Amino acid sequence: MPSNLPSSESAVPQRDAQFVRVAETQREPLSFFIDGHEVAALQGDTLLTAVLMQQRRVRESEFSGAPRAGFCLIGACQDCWMRTEEGLRLRACSTLVTQGMRVVTRLAEVTFVAGPASAASSVVTANGETQ
Ligand code: FES
Repeated sequence: MPSNLPSSESAVPQRDAQFVRVAETQREPLSFFIDGHEVAALQGDTLLTAVLMQQRRVRESEFSGAPRAGFCLIGACQDCWMRTEEGLRLRACSTLVTQGMRVVTRLAEVTFVAGPASAASSVVTANGETQ
């Protein structure tokens, strides 16, 4: 009998992950980098989903250093801002993760690049707009 439940392998959460994928497990895989470590995600994941499938935080607060993991998940609370290694700021809950994307969870990891964002730095938001 066909089932829409994930396979037992995909249902096993990553160690210390905040999210567990329970559906849409057949989308195409991709890889991206969190703090220099290559990790896996699926095409169509938001950056927030992709990061929280790996760990329990998207960033550390620039004010207190406390861990943050988003709150509203709909682009309203501003709790999920992340940065690329080049310093581009992304709202993780409304940005799609892309192949080879490189994000950091600590501001100290950012190397700010002067001038306009390069084509390699462009991102696609969840509603299809390119930033
Ligand atoms: S989680 Fe609230 S804006 Fe992203």
